[in-house]
Amino acid sequence: MAVDPLIELRNVNKHYGQLHVLRDIDLIVGRGEVVVVIGPSGSGKSTLCRTINRLETVESGTIVLDGQPLPQEGKALARLRAEVGMVFQSFNLFAHKTVLQNVSLAQIKVRRRKRDEADQRSRELLDRVGLSAHAGKYPAQLSGGQQQRVAIARALAMEPKALLFDEPTSALDPEMINEVLEVMRQLARDGMTMIVVTHEMGFARSAANRVVFMADGRIVEDRAPEEFFTNPRSERAKDFLSKILKH
Ligand SMILES: Nc1ncnc2c1ncn2[C@@H]1O[C@H](COP(=O)(O)OP(=O)(O)OP(=O)(O)O)[C@@H](O)[C@H]1O
Ligand SMILES: [Mg+2]
Repeated sequence: MAVDPLIELRNVNKHYGQLHVLRDIDLIVGRGEVVVVIGPSGSGKSTLCRTINRLETVESGTIVLDGQPLPQEGKALARLRAEVGMVFQSFNLFAHKTVLQNVSLAQIKVRRRKRDEADQRSRELLDRVGLSAHAGKYPAQLSGGQQQRVAIARALAMEPKALLFDEPTSALDPEMINEVLEVMRQLARDGMTMIVVTHEMGFARSAANRVVFMADGRIVEDRAPEEFFTNPRSERAKDFLSKILKH
């Protein structure tokens, strides 16, 4: 069990109209832990990520980040969002800004850094994700894998306490998936706390401390990767694994 909790969800429930999309979610993620979330389409994985940085509200339950309950709104909420970075399937880069500007922008606007200082940090991060040669390019001049690595650098630029990834490689061609997963593996080795929604079972096996399997808005299993993949307990997980492992 996590000894030093960074993200704590307790008894979280959420509806979209009649649809009970998150049901009694209890999830504790320790500092430095990597949790991979898998499950069938519509099981609530994206909603779970979005509630953790308050892109969505919840109806009941509590979400605590580093000992602080999530604020409802206002400045405190903006600050919190900056503390939990999010990387989406679609990279959401600004098309009319260069790579460097994309990584520096929120540092200047939200973190109030001077441009020089922000740009210097951006260059360090672009180096870390293997893109120092591309700082002056526009997103359209990069491959999908490169754009996603820019998005990761941009999230890191805010010095987040945790990073949430929602299917970060799903929009990528196969040959680009690995370069993004490799950056994520390195972050995991560096001790970043991460929640990763992904279908990349190799990543789950090699980088995750735990696998959380969701179905119908519930956490059905929460286990060490090897245990989960070799010996899933629930019928839902067995069924899901047999489908994805056949691909
Ligand atoms: N803004 C919304 N309004 C209404 N229903 C929504 C909304 N967003 C998601 N849903 C529904 O909530 C359920 C869970 O959606 P969610 O996107 O969290 O699933 P998911 O596990 O991420 O699925 P996928 O693997 O397809 O990405 C789905 O039935 C979806 O249709
Ligand atoms: Mg989703």
